[in-house]
Amino acid sequence: MGRADKVVLAYSGGVDTSVCIPYLKEEWGVKEVITLAADLGQGDELEPIRQKALDSGAAESLVINATESFVKDYTFPAIQANALYENRYPLSTALARPLIAKLLVEAAEKYGADAVAHGCTGKGNDQVRFDVSIAALNPNIKVLAPAREWGMSREETIAYGERFGIPAPVKKSSPYSIDRNLLGRSIEAGPLEDPWTEPLEEVYDLTKAIADTPDEPEYIEINFERGVPVGLNGQGLDPVSLISRLNEVVGAHGVGRIDMVENRLVGIKSREIYEAPALLVLIQAHRDLESLTLTADVTHYKRGIEETYSQMIYNGLWYSPLKGALDAFVHQTQERVSGTVRLKLFKGNATIVGRKSEKSLYTPDLATYGAEDTFDHKAAEGFIYVWGLPTRVWSQKLRES
Ligand code: ARG
Repeated sequence: MGRADKVVLAYSGGVDTSVCIPYLKEEWGVKEVITLAADLGQGDELEPIRQKALDSGAAESLVINATESFVKDYTFPAIQANALYENRYPLSTALARPLIAKLLVEAAEKYGADAVAHGCTGKGNDQVRFDVSIAALNPNIKVLAPAREWGMSREETIAYGERFGIPAPVKKSSPYSIDRNLLGRSIEAGPLEDPWTEPLEEVYDLTKAIADTPDEPEYIEINFERGVPVGLNGQGLDPVSLISRLNEVVGAHGVGRIDMVENRLVGIKSREIYEAPALLVLIQAHRDLESLTLTADVTHYKRGIEETYSQMIYNGLWYSPLKGALDAFVHQTQERVSGTVRLKLFKGNATIVGRKSEKSLYTPDLATYGAEDTFDHKAAEGFIYVWGLPTRVWSQKLRES
């Protein structure tokens, strides 16, 4: 008896996921492997990937373009929540996982598979995100993770694949582990494993080195409606075009790089390089627009929600009751977050230089230091008396005792 009869395998076209196909069949007795490659804007040609799965022994090879849903249903809510894990990582890899999990579960249900599988190892966050998301969507589907159990080194994996006609990688394999989608790139391993070692320029692809960026600043305007980016420089763009266009414009100025040591859910610290030009600038601009359109108390309270929300995405809890409740809160706050933010891109920096909104709460005749001032200065005295009363009482008592 095998572990499952029919399995839908998350497939990338790489050696590891390709080896999963014969491995599931030969070692774990799976009768039929259906592969699923999700197009999330990673820029790979998908027809060769589809064919490669069949050549590696898949009974069926599915390719699904989910880029639009990736932006609208996963990325936009994260932007509305200003989601940055540990205040820096915009979750560009993490956000793709619940969507891939959903595609796997849908395919398993459609094709009557009793399990889904992925090629994650036992050390990362992605296995957690897949397993927990799949369980949340359909707890009756088994999750198989061969690479978590097979204990093969890279060389052994390649050799195993060759026995089943899976070609070894042609070019000298890169020392890095790279994950890529429309939102950006995550790069780790190889020389980056020493947190003191500066990344070589070769790790970057979406962002220019400062030496190669324009010597003139470029100004851009990002238009938002209800917390969602809808246009660039006044021109309306669909969600996918907006992100790809912005990646190019922003990356050309060397903006969007992150070099950090992060805390994985499984307890390991890891050094990761990220490139996410569009996403980082969108969060920066969105947060700024909120400063104009949200009341002080909502802004301050939302910071705590954002922190929890980011951790939940990172830790694989996209589909969970608390996440749903936080979504409702965030959604409610975005009703009036519409307007335009102006940024200056120059030599690795994106600086916000202006913001405007028809829903702005900024009140010039209250804020001004000029003659138009309508603020009642005398009222401040009574306010401060009451506001400072506990402090005054405390200080007085301290002196007496
Ligand atoms: N550390 C990131 C995360 O947990 C990215 C993981 C994938 N990175 C990679 N280089 N393969 O979301």
